[in-house]
Amino acid sequence: MKNIAVIYWSNGGNVEVLADNIVKGAESEGAKVTVKHVQDAKVEDVTSADAVAFGSPSLDNNKIEQDHMAPFIKEFKLLPIQGKKAVLFGSYGWDEGAFLKEWKKVVEDYGFNVVGELAVKEAPDDEQLQKAGELGKLLAK
Ligand SMILES: Cc1cc2nc3c(=O)[nH]c(=O)nc-3n(C[C@H](O)[C@H](O)[C@H](O)COP(=O)(O)O)c2cc1C
Repeated sequence: MKNIAVIYWSNGGNVEVLADNIVKGAESEGAKVTVKHVQDAKVEDVTSADAVAFGSPSLDNNKIEQDHMAPFIKEFKLLPIQGKKAVLFGSYGWDEGAFLKEWKKVVEDYGFNVVGELAVKEAPDDEQLQKAGELGKLLAK
């Protein structure tokens, strides 16, 4: 059984509903999922997982959330990540997903193997929720 960690930040709920669907997708493949707001997450939640999903909105001039998510991600800079499978997901208002492209460069630089990404404009539609579920399944395989 795969251990999956889903770690996200959300204020208005758009990223949260994506996280919920990633969790459901991973659980439907039999994975054990730890899902946490980044404020409650520990580095070990990620290092002990077989695969991870990180989620954030675009904030603060097209960047991931800076008070909690950015410093959490930075913790992995010097840790042995060794190609751990990762999915990045999030929501934006107007940057068309540019924040996620930048984020991908950072986490790949830290050694994660980004196998999927999903950036949606504001609230996800049904098709995007289904895509989130598929990303959860992908992590669990
Ligand atoms: C204070 C604030 C700052 C924002 N800054 C950006 C931004 O720089 N670029 C962008 O594309 N969207 C920006 N947005 C839009 C959010 O990324 C978008 O509403 C997202 O769906 C919020 O996710 P959440 O509902 O999970 O909190 C901002 C929204 C708020 C409330």
